[in-house]
Amino acid sequence: MSHPESAYKKVTTHTIQKMKIAGEKISMITAYDYSFAKIFDAAGMDIILVGDSASNVMAGHVTTLPITLDQMIYHAQSVVRAHQRSLIVVDIPFGYYQSNSEIALASAIRIMKESGAHTVKLEGGEEVIDSIKKIVRAGVPVMGHLGLTPQSINKFGTYTVRATVEAEAEKLRNDALLLQEAGCFAIVLEKIPASLAKTVTESLSIPTIGIGAGADCDGQVLVMHDLLGINTDFTPRFLRKYLNLEEQINTAVKQYIQDVKTKNFPNETEQY
Ligand code: KIV
Repeated sequence: MSHPESAYKKVTTHTIQKMKIAGEKISMITAYDYSFAKIFDAAGMDIILVGDSASNVMAGHVTTLPITLDQMIYHAQSVVRAHQRSLIVVDIPFGYYQSNSEIALASAIRIMKESGAHTVKLEGGEEVIDSIKKIVRAGVPVMGHLGLTPQSINKFGTYTVRATVEAEAEKLRNDALLLQEAGCFAIVLEKIPASLAKTVTESLSIPTIGIGAGADCDGQVLVMHDLLGINTDFTPRFLRKYLNLEEQINTAVKQYIQDVKTKNFPNETEQY
């Protein structure tokens, strides 16, 4: 079913603001390379996130911490080459914005200049407000990220649901308002109670994009490897798998191996 708002030829930060006002849900997915980004863009995805989850799903690291700015820019360049319509957001990786706002701005500018992406995303609330203000003042749109912030995994120790106690929920509500005041154009809410995400979403004029944050967010985001069933080890409650690609690829590749071994591939029509 297509929504009239989806007729937007190109999605910009203004478009997703209009979607919030119109009550049209915003779709977002991660991508890290040209080929998948091309499919997602052509399918009508509103936002493609070049997430630092590339550290996990592309490079095989246990956390998002090791990925570098150069590596994020490489992934972003590949995704941008596929761009026709979707808004492209790129994560500033761990270590490239936390120390001070000058470094944060320099990282954001490198991403924008070298990849051609449209916006950046960074994690955290009050502690990163100065950096967000500086980046926004330089003309770079910023997406915030609250709740479960994977770059801080060593501080929290687990990937469990965040803000289940009132003090944490209160901080998150305040942080969301601070991010909005600082000029963020949207905020990802990761793994928090649905009731809290609803309250935050209703308190903001900018859109919220949820992952494990319930149905009342203005949009939803999933990691492509999770929703396509490429990553079979990750089965949190919030994940809906739309394909079992790991199984399908396994079957196809086993068939190919067998065809090669049995001299069934290539056949006469598959050669010159
Ligand atoms: O890096 C990422 O994939 C993300 C999403 C989980 C929102 O930040």
